[in-house]
Amino acid sequence: MEYIAIVLAAGQGKRMNAGENKQFITLVDQPLIIHTLQVFAKDAWCKSIVLVVNSREKQRIEQLVDGFSLQKDICIVEGGAERQESVFKGLRSINDPESLVFIHDGARPFVTRDHLHKLAEVASQKQAALLAVPVTDTIKERNGEKLTTLDRSVLWAAQTPQAFQFDLIYKAHKSALDEAFIGTDDASLVEKLGYPVQIVEGSYQNIKLTTPEDLERAHSILKSGIKEI
Ligand code: CTP
Ligand code: MG
Repeated sequence: MEYIAIVLAAGQGKRMNAGENKQFITLVDQPLIIHTLQVFAKDAWCKSIVLVVNSREKQRIEQLVDGFSLQKDICIVEGGAERQESVFKGLRSINDPESLVFIHDGARPFVTRDHLHKLAEVASQKQAALLAVPVTDTIKERNGEKLTTLDRSVLWAAQTPQAFQFDLIYKAHKSALDEAFIGTDDASLVEKLGYPVQIVEGSYQNIKLTTPEDLERAHSILKSGIKEI
């Protein structure tokens, strides 16, 4: 089974407060974005990688990627102001309408090959799937003065990668753009078309590095060596 990975790195990492894009932060031995790219570079099912970066950092990332000699064809494209725009620019650079496309946050370095393959298997059968984990917190909905408690047994926290047949995700992004709809993830754009999206249960270790506290967790994950890839 084969897929093309779109890896997103065109954000600014404001909440990380590192003074620069969090993708460049060194985690133990190498920058965050290299950890993430390595996962796909080492996966035989990954045909190629589209790395989405912001225009100011294109050269820096190119040099970084060259320096680590990753064993995969990597095409670097410029992203946009919003994550959704960055994804669409990545999709537009793909000239392979039959392919399966994985969309992944550059800031999630701990996804394992096992989960990538489970996701690929489901997405190739059903056209659309994402990694997600059961919500462990109790979630409240507040509407003015009224508080309700949601049924946790049906709640899932969405992660990436999210995987789609190319035509389906392209159509979903195009129609979101036409309707000026901004979703919080790619699956939500497909859901909006009325197309069913499958959940593949992932791991709580597949965190997105968002705030400085996440860096501590990332270091401890790397040190404990649970990373399977
Ligand atoms: N991303 C992107 N293009 C954007 C915004 C985000 O490619 N215009 C990418 C980020 O680089 C990141 C992923 O989408 O890998 C998830 O976004 P997030 O965690 O929000 O990262 P940032 O937007 O960089 O961080 P912040 O929101 O704190 O500024
Ligand atoms: Mg952001």
